[in-house]
Amino acid sequence: MNSEESAENSTDAENTDASEGQTNDSENPEKPDIPEEQGTKVLVAYFSATNTTQGIAEHIANGLNADIYEIVPEEPYTDADLNYNDNNSRTTIEMNDPDARPAISGSVEDMEQYDIVFIGYPIWWGEAPRIVSTFVESYDFSGKTIVPFCTSGGSGVGSSATNLEQLTDGADWLPGKRLNGSDSQDTVMEWVNGLGLDFGE
Ligand SMILES: Cc1cc2nc3c(=O)[nH]c(=O)nc-3n(C[C@H](O)[C@H](O)[C@H](O)COP(=O)(O)O)c2cc1C
Repeated sequence: MNSEESAENSTDAENTDASEGQTNDSENPEKPDIPEEQGTKVLVAYFSATNTTQGIAEHIANGLNADIYEIVPEEPYTDADLNYNDNNSRTTIEMNDPDARPAISGSVEDMEQYDIVFIGYPIWWGEAPRIVSTFVESYDFSGKTIVPFCTSGGSGVGSSATNLEQLTDGADWLPGKRLNGSDSQDTVMEWVNGLGLDFGE
């Protein structure tokens, strides 16, 4: 009984300290060291109109054994929609309007569980397609690390990722990366593994 009481007392004392916010790990060296990477979950989300970005997204997801999510437009993009030589095509109209937010079909199941979210897209007129804006505005990314990547006909990532970043709050965005649609899984994973992120594997 006595020993139980003294154990209770010492617990109380610790609780008092903690409630005052006076203790931390460095003052409590006997506390077990729980690795921070435990339970790190990665999502690879992508939009791809002609499957180029999809290939890169699959390389990342396979390489990391991560979940993958395709951003699917409610209204699919036809070849005519994708015609950038037509001033009146759907993509031209959308990209001329920074506030355009094409609707997405479906959603990520339990976005909250993810710590790191890769977001991939093709470059359209130097930017991310507006549907990617719809995507980033649809979730709370605070506390998450976001890794933007893109494919293109030659343009770099430009300001596409930093423009997306402005649409989110409290997320840690890494610099965007342009990849070649033909990049091998090894090439893609070389970039991924060089990001300095702890994927918890
Ligand atoms: C509407 C539209 C605009 C595009 N604008 C650019 C551009 O500004 N710069 C560029 O290098 N490529 C541009 N492209 C080419 C795509 O970025 C490239 O083909 C990309 O890899 C396609 O990816 P996806 O197959 O995942 O959709 C454009 C393509 C489309 C359909």
